[in-house]
Amino acid sequence: MPKTPSLPAVGIVPKLSISAKLPKKAEAVLIPVFKGDNGPEIAGTGIFSDKTQVAVLEALSAVGATGAAQEVTKLAGIPGTDVPVVVAVGLGSSDDFDAETLRRSAGVASRALKGFGKVASTLGTFGLSDAVLGSALGAYTFRGQKTAELEAAQAPVDEIVFISDKKKDFSAATILVDSVVLARNLVNTASSHLYPESYAAYAAALAEDYGVTAEILDDKDLAKGKFGGLMAVGGGSARKPRLLRLTYTAKKSAPSVALVGKGITFDTGGISIKPSANMDDMISDMGGSAATIASVFAAARLGLKVNVTATVPMAENMPDGESYRPGDVITHYGGKTSEIINTDAEGRLVLADAIVRACEDKPDYLIEMATLTGAQLVALGGRTTGVMGSDEFRDRVAEIGRSVGEPAWAMPFPEEVSDEMKSDVADLRNTGKSRFGGMMQAGYYLSQFVAEDVQWVHMDIAGPAYNSGSPYGYITKRGTGAPVRTVVAVLEDIAAK
Ligand code: BES
Ligand code: ZN
Ligand code: ZN
Repeated sequence: MPKTPSLPAVGIVPKLSISAKLPKKAEAVLIPVFKGDNGPEIAGTGIFSDKTQVAVLEALSAVGATGAAQEVTKLAGIPGTDVPVVVAVGLGSSDDFDAETLRRSAGVASRALKGFGKVASTLGTFGLSDAVLGSALGAYTFRGQKTAELEAAQAPVDEIVFISDKKKDFSAATILVDSVVLARNLVNTASSHLYPESYAAYAAALAEDYGVTAEILDDKDLAKGKFGGLMAVGGGSARKPRLLRLTYTAKKSAPSVALVGKGITFDTGGISIKPSANMDDMISDMGGSAATIASVFAAARLGLKVNVTATVPMAENMPDGESYRPGDVITHYGGKTSEIINTDAEGRLVLADAIVRACEDKPDYLIEMATLTGAQLVALGGRTTGVMGSDEFRDRVAEIGRSVGEPAWAMPFPEEVSDEMKSDVADLRNTGKSRFGGMMQAGYYLSQFVAEDVQWVHMDIAGPAYNSGSPYGYITKRGTGAPVRTVVAVLEDIAAK
């Protein structure tokens, strides 16, 4: 274990800054264009004279630009612009325009700027925070431990200078960017380097920087404390489990929120081993914990008026002579028992311990997130989070998710689901008797560990946490950072009420 814990590699993100006017030596300037009935329309950003604006518009029309959302057109050598290149970014029809359109177009534009040094951006004219988020997150480039140097022409844009005077919005947006980037970096780090011990140590070191208190329970503490779920799941690995607790205190009278996130640093399935195809994607099975940790730091850095405590179970699910088995009965923290039907349904077992521990603090709200079921992907696809929990809070969280551009949909606990999870020999089975409604079975299982009077929500992010396809909008390959922006927005919403 290195003295100062660090990740072997992190994603590259452009430097972000803000300036009231066009900086000297910008290599390009980004400008927004809308799609009009008769071709592109330049939105007034105030950086060009009327005459220059006409010249830009003529050049755009000449090359067939329309202003459609995510259309990027580069124009060189337009007189009067003070920059070598003007990059027009389509935002679609002004009637349909919304924040997500801006974030996505900004993200696509950022990736079209590979090889550029310093560029100025006026995209913030239509929403500075969204322009900053989309631009920075869309450019994120993770090269892991590739040893060859990146060709200059392939390198992400070096620096984006946003032309704006909204310094407060800018700094809040950059904190959000940092938080999403942290979650992506954690998810993208291979399990060879990110395992319970190294993960907890890294998060605790960051916590110190942000004024967040950290506590780590190691395997001996966990055995002593009777965290039976975490001990069972982590038992088959040479890398022993941890329970990380992070606390950000705003002030005594503020509402309290418990965050819990699944931190399976690798999920082989254990004795109920997974097929080899795509098993490498299971480095992302700690996506819920990454979002949880990043959200606590965001709350602290933004100074939100909520007290937040994160409880993060970390374990590696491996097959071994010391593994737990199908048929085992385990006793969770707090005393409830589970019959193990399938050792690949491990997330809920470690979360059960963590949820019981989190509820001991008597939080007003509990927000739990996990890459929990393949059934989430079947039901809602790769991009939409399944949200379960207390009716009202569940609907509020799903709505907030959609509003920040992290698609989310409320799911029920149908009455028949409780029968699915009944065991003859323990309080609960860890999988349902049928394969129907697997996402809700898992959510229902978790509900049995939540204390009464706590408004709670479970987010199944099996698909949304990880993009195994191509980049789109401001979502890059691999770790997406979901649902950090939803959680931070929910914390802000709780603080405002
Ligand atoms: N980590 C997986 C869920 C998952 C699947 C996340 C695909 C991301 C992408 C989880 O631990 C798991 O294996 N769940 C099982 C549950 C089943 C055994 C009831 C599943 O979904 O197959
Ligand atoms: Zn599993
Ligand atoms: Zn898992």
